[in-house]
Amino acid sequence: MSELQFPDYQGNILVIDDTPANLKLLRNLLSEKGYQVRPMPSGTLALEGIHLNYPDLILLDINMPEMNGYDVCQVLKADERTRDIPVIFISAIDDIFDKIKAFEVGGVDYITKPFQVEEVLARVRTHLTLSGLQKMLQATTNWQDKQLAEQNAQLQEVNQRLEQANQQQIALNQELQKQLQKLEQTQLQLVQGEKMATLGQLTAGVAHEINNPVNFIAGNLTHTEDYVADLIHHLRLYQKQFPNPEPAIDENADKIDLEFVLEDLPKTIASMKKGTSRIRSISTSLRTFSRADTEDKAAFDIHDGIDSTLMILQHRLKANDNRPAIQIVKEYSNLLLVDCFPGQLNQVFMNIIANAIDALDEYSQERSYEEIERHPNQIVIRTEFFREGRALPTPHVVIRIADNGKGMSETVKQKIFEHLFTTKSVGQGTGLGLSIARQIVVEKHGGTLEIQSELGKGAEFAIALPLEEISP
Ligand SMILES: Nc1ncnc2c1ncn2[C@@H]1O[C@H](COP(=O)(O)OP(=O)(O)OP(=O)(O)O)[C@@H](O)[C@H]1O
Ligand SMILES: [Mg+2]
Repeated sequence: MSELQFPDYQGNILVIDDTPANLKLLRNLLSEKGYQVRPMPSGTLALEGIHLNYPDLILLDINMPEMNGYDVCQVLKADERTRDIPVIFISAIDDIFDKIKAFEVGGVDYITKPFQVEEVLARVRTHLTLSGLQKMLQATTNWQDKQLAEQNAQLQEVNQRLEQANQQQIALNQELQKQLQKLEQTQLQLVQGEKMATLGQLTAGVAHEINNPVNFIAGNLTHTEDYVADLIHHLRLYQKQFPNPEPAIDENADKIDLEFVLEDLPKTIASMKKGTSRIRSISTSLRTFSRADTEDKAAFDIHDGIDSTLMILQHRLKANDNRPAIQIVKEYSNLLLVDCFPGQLNQVFMNIIANAIDALDEYSQERSYEEIERHPNQIVIRTEFFREGRALPTPHVVIRIADNGKGMSETVKQKIFEHLFTTKSVGQGTGLGLSIARQIVVEKHGGTLEIQSELGKGAEFAIALPLEEISP
């Protein structure tokens, strides 16, 4: 901070008078009191010389040839450099002195000739002090201004730093936000990955364990069918050869309802064969569904993926107390092999179809069994191939999964892909399904996932996947 400095105002006095005797008198008088005195015999000379060294006070005679005191004073007051120097007029007692004019042109005081020493000194001292104080005030004001300016500059600097810090904070916040999102996604993937891995291992394990015994039963059933046919044939031969056997044999035949057994046994075996073949196809589906594929992409028949997902959800599609079975309508295009992560795509189908079943179940609670029978609950699955289109500019497949369930409002529709958004009660839904589905479709496969839905009018999800290699 700068020091406050007051100007030195030990008087420096300019005396302007055309009378040498007056000049001399005033000079002696004032010099004696320690003032510096500069005498000037005319206004013109004084106005020229004044700029060499500005005085603190001017004593100005009024009555002068050439230029009188009023004129000199006016010139002084018109000049910015000399405007503030106090002027005391000198007037002879017998001059016609116009006090009003003296003040009008800028004089601060006047003294009269012949001089009264004490009066002259008193007035000079007063005005020097006044002007000194004024200068001090000015200096103080200047100093304050300077301090203010300095403080302002400092404030500005602080402001700038604050602004910078603020910007940094914002950048940091953004970075944190990004990291948080990443973390959330990673968490999402981890949870799902774990879920899928466990589910995958479990289903693969179950499928594997079921496989051997089922194959064993299926293989033996074929033999059993042959043996039974042979035995029946053999029995018919006996009956033909011995139409009247012992009564005990006839009795037993009645007891066991032989004719019915002979007729029903092949049917029983045929249905057992159907059963085993169904178990085998479930086991195949389980294995298709649980293909472990987190590492690499593979060509995958998406119809297989959808079918195996439906197979796994079979128990939820079946009729129950509230509603008849949900109808599945498939409109598949030709075989579609897509280069993808099959396990993840199955997960997408699973999440979307499970949601459709949820929506149909909820809707069914509002409708009577008969009404539902008249307008059955349906899930329609369509697959299509496109060379290019709005969804994707490259060749792609679109899988549409539509339900005629409760549909959703516009507000819900805006949010369904958000992490943890759910309209289901605790334990019913976590709100992860669609956000994962979207992540898999969009981020992992470069595809799109779109929704069309209205409240009360069902919902349709369209999954578009780019085809990198199209296999016929
Ligand atoms: N087919 C649909 N019909 C009506 N609403 C749907 C449908 N699919 C999704 N929704 C709405 O979107 C919300 C979010 O679905 P999402 O699958 O992400 O979570 P969730 O099913 O609630 O829980 P979960 O994590 O168990 O899947 C659902 O709660 C539901 O309100
Ligand atoms: Mg869901």
